[in-house]
Amino acid sequence: MIHGKYLLPNGRVLRYSFHERMIHWTAAVSYVYLLLSGLAFWSPWMFWIAAVLGGATIARELHPWLGIVFSVAVVLMDGMWGKQMKETPADKGWWESIGHYIRNEDDKMPPADRFNPGQKLLFWGFFVNGLLLLLTGLILWLPQYIPWNLRILRLASIFLHPVFALFTIALFIVHVYMGTAMERGAFGSVIRGDVSRAWADHHHHSWFQQVLREEESSGKSSGD
Ligand code: HEM
Repeated sequence: MIHGKYLLPNGRVLRYSFHERMIHWTAAVSYVYLLLSGLAFWSPWMFWIAAVLGGATIARELHPWLGIVFSVAVVLMDGMWGKQMKETPADKGWWESIGHYIRNEDDKMPPADRFNPGQKLLFWGFFVNGLLLLLTGLILWLPQYIPWNLRILRLASIFLHPVFALFTIALFIVHVYMGTAMERGAFGSVIRGDVSRAWADHHHHSWFQQVLREEESSGKSSGD
């Protein structure tokens, strides 16, 4: 059996390197804190959440700093995955078959690359809304640096910051549901890093074929 950088000696396939997983979990943990503290600040009905996060004062102090951590993680994600998240001509066919995907008729779906178009949409959704949250968040955090004649930006940010947050919440709910409950084997890939060959072939056929080609051409054969 061939093994190398992606095909592991235990017969599994490396989907996410340690570096990729670290960046993913930095984004995930900081996002969860931002989400919970943001909900606490948003409505008096949810203010009780602040108690679980170390109290309202601590949560208010940490929220913008974790916003910076989240933004850095998202920019690093763009560095490592941005190219693979670009739209390809094959993506159109995938979207046209989305009905099969929703009905779990995976065998009727066109083969997906390392990331399917739904994952790409999630990535860009987080990227764009993440940057907009950073921008509006900075205005709310440091209003003293906004000139008086641009004060409209402060008002706009009060309204827009939660709007962008709501978009990410919708993405987050779908993402966590898909990654934990719907696609068995996916969660292990962001914990241990690997997936079974059957999983790789089933969910990301084109990517798996490319891995096989690359491993074969790099000539790293165990000889059996
Ligand atoms: C507790 C929260 C989270 C869980 C349980 C989770 C779970 C997962 C899983 C299982 C995968 C692998 C999916 C696959 O390869 O098939 C993944 C990938 C990914 N995650 Fe998360 N994630 C979480 C939070 C986040 C957050 C907050 C972001 C925002 C930046 C994010 C962005 C991504 C991206 C861009 C990928 C790669 C593409 C994709 O699979 O959608 N994740 N995550």
